[in-house]
Amino acid sequence: IPIERIRNFSIIAHIDHGKSTLADRLLEITGAVSAREMREQYLDRLELERERGITIKAQAVRLYYQRENGEVYQLNLIDTPGHVDFTYEVSRALAACEGALLVVDASQGVEAQTLANVYLALENNLEIIPVINKIDLPQADIEKTKREIEEIIGLSTEDALLVSAKFGIGIKEVLEAIINKIPSPKGKREAPLRALVFDSWYDPYLGVVVLVRVVDGKIYPGQKIKFLSTGKVYEITKVGVFAPEAATLDCLFAGEVGFIAAGIKEVREAKIGDTITEANACVEPLPGFKEVKPVVFAGIFPVDNDDFENLKEAIEKLWLNDPAFSYELETSAALGFGFRCGFQGLLHMEIVQERLEREFKLNLISTAPSVKYKIRLKNKKEIEIENPAHWPDPALIEEVLEPYIRAEIYTPREYIGSLIKLCEEKRGIQKEIKYLTPDRVVLVYELPFSEIVLDFYDKLKSYSRGYASLDYQFIGYRAGDLVKMDILINKQPVDTLSLIVHRDKAYYRGRELTSKLKEVIPRQLFEVVIQAAIGNKVIARERIPPLRKDVLAKCYGGDVTRKKKLLEKQKEGKKRLKAIGHVEIPQEAFLAVLKI
Ligand code: GTP
Repeated sequence: IPIERIRNFSIIAHIDHGKSTLADRLLEITGAVSAREMREQYLDRLELERERGITIKAQAVRLYYQRENGEVYQLNLIDTPGHVDFTYEVSRALAACEGALLVVDASQGVEAQTLANVYLALENNLEIIPVINKIDLPQADIEKTKREIEEIIGLSTEDALLVSAKFGIGIKEVLEAIINKIPSPKGKREAPLRALVFDSWYDPYLGVVVLVRVVDGKIYPGQKIKFLSTGKVYEITKVGVFAPEAATLDCLFAGEVGFIAAGIKEVREAKIGDTITEANACVEPLPGFKEVKPVVFAGIFPVDNDDFENLKEAIEKLWLNDPAFSYELETSAALGFGFRCGFQGLLHMEIVQERLEREFKLNLISTAPSVKYKIRLKNKKEIEIENPAHWPDPALIEEVLEPYIRAEIYTPREYIGSLIKLCEEKRGIQKEIKYLTPDRVVLVYELPFSEIVLDFYDKLKSYSRGYASLDYQFIGYRAGDLVKMDILINKQPVDTLSLIVHRDKAYYRGRELTSKLKEVIPRQLFEVVIQAAIGNKVIARERIPPLRKDVLAKCYGGDVTRKKKLLEKQKEGKKRLKAIGHVEIPQEAFLAVLKI
């Protein structure tokens, strides 16, 4: 197919506005998937995506569409995730496209990630086609949605498409608009090969599989290629596309999107954002991707220490598919060997842990998430800390700085009051309240990021019945009165339960945490004392009474010394257990810290 008849596009939207459903309809109408094979959210391949009903990984599929005049077009669709934690996936996908369908739910209007994704699309110079979805819903308000798109985003809605992805209304018009409005790719087929790596993963049969957008030239089996950043040379063994199942091809040409395999064994050698060229060519690298820095950190440990090597291998493989998390070795007195991992947010953290457990059959414990703090020491040195276990002696600390974000909360007017209250509880500083339209408002707040990490997102949703949405950016570090709170179990500090809290909230959190731990730690044969402490000062205490084995049951009557002896013996048994620190702490205990 000539390059003029290729269209590369993406679907962007706020979460749940219907991207994946629209993708389903496009697969159906182009015949890529027959009605019999069709299942909902076809492109969400990960088990986890299907269960949660969200898209986590971007997907690229090739569709063929025949116009009424007989011309056949090749459409490469890249479905992207909508949640703020996965923005990096969206930006990578957009780099492989010339246009984007902007899906807006007609019953919800413009939301935070609608805008955030539009900005990403504009940064990539994409043609944006507004698609107003869910017009079948009785609450759908098409005029209002149009007004919001015009006023908030500044996009003309004269040609906005009216669609019900669920009921297949307006789908053909979407395909025509893709062809008429989105430009064809610009690349030169005769030029030397340049291809952008925008995703990769490990396949047990093929080795590393790399998803590429061919910018110039062509790529085919037998060709010798080079990764520009490493200089490593490989011979291509396979090229192909997803249509939507994997299909092998003879060649991928400039302008096309597809996958390649080249017997790459080392997961680190196919870096996302890298440029692939012919082995002996000398070309300019393509602009790669901004490196994304993790912002939330937590320890991940195998429940069974023998699984450490397996965990290591699993993490390396998963990292290839998701370079937005980071990892380094960590040892804990309580949990043994594991990894300190960094994530884009809490959902990202949950997803990574679940993928490790499912895709690699591991049983893991993760510790409470933490942000990265900067600490100025009295000796004028500055250190960065994202693991509470490394917190320095308070006597050495001059000042603690914590990361702040500027949050934009989009909400219908009626929830302003409760959302302001929420932001205030979270130590927020109000900056602005903007009316976008008479009943759509943006609250702008500066907030400590650590407060967002815990449960801000869930609270935001519950305070606004699901209507408010959030977008944020980092704005730097500011001083805060932060302290390290240790959790001691029978006087032993459990390193992985420590956390950093604001002094004003320490008592409250300490009490909540100790009482939660009391609930989740099972009773043992001896007394268990749970304490929360700042330095040497205990601020909360709970006690789990022992399961007392009734050693006296069999000697009613009898003499007192025998009773005493038995009791003495039992006490010793208890002591020994205590001394070994034999308290069994279940995973829930670690999660409890998260959930407070
Ligand atoms: P993420 O992948 O999580 O970012 O969400 P998404 O934008 O892909 O949304 P998805 O396609 O999963 O749709 C979200 C929900 O809206 C699902 O329950 C769909 O069935 C529903 N939905 C999608 N399109 C329509 C529509 O046109 N009308 C109605 N009534 N419901 C729709």
